[in-house]
Amino acid sequence: MDGSTRKRTLLKVILLGDSGVGKTSMMNQYVNKKFSPHYKSTIGADFVTKELQIDDKQVTLQIWDTAGQERFQSLGAAFYRGAECCVLVYDVNVLRSFETLNTWREEFLKQQAHPAEPDNFPFILLGNKIDLDGGNSRVVSEWQAKEWCDSRGNIAYLETSAKEGYNVDEAFLCVARTAL
Ligand code: GTP
Repeated sequence: MDGSTRKRTLLKVILLGDSGVGKTSMMNQYVNKKFSPHYKSTIGADFVTKELQIDDKQVTLQIWDTAGQERFQSLGAAFYRGAECCVLVYDVNVLRSFETLNTWREEFLKQQAHPAEPDNFPFILLGNKIDLDGGNSRVVSEWQAKEWCDSRGNIAYLETSAKEGYNVDEAFLCVARTAL
């Protein structure tokens, strides 16, 4: 069978986390290889798609970027349904964005169609903005983040910089592999 007739798998992925942690930037860096230092809040949710090949499988990632700002959250939640993977993002320099991860995770599971198996749902955690670490602004250690992941099942953890493109491709490859 050649590439044109091979079946594509569509994977719906949701990015969640506090406002300003870099969800939109992560998506923009991954899909367009671009970064903007200007902040523009996401309203509701928006998605992009990216095609990739994993081993012999053709995969289309449908990546949903949701609003972190509280006043727009209820709009974003409507898009959680049918997701195959949830990517939780926090900013390693902002403690509160780490502390709210539980709430994001639980809220997501509540809206999901399969609440009976919350422990099995594939999550990935990204600690973003590690490029700012040079200024010693980091407040959440890699160890703390890994412990958070381990105590909630087998959640993969990656540290990223949407600004520098560090680990961004790797993060979405991990997402695709986890969701497949
Ligand atoms: P909401 O749409 O409100 O949920 O925010 P968001 O999580 O989508 O954050 P966004 O991507 O809009 O980024 C917020 C700000 O952080 C912007 O000014 C970005 O330029 C900046 N930013 C995002 N990622 C990084 C990063 O890896 N490093 C640095 N230094 N800044 C970043």
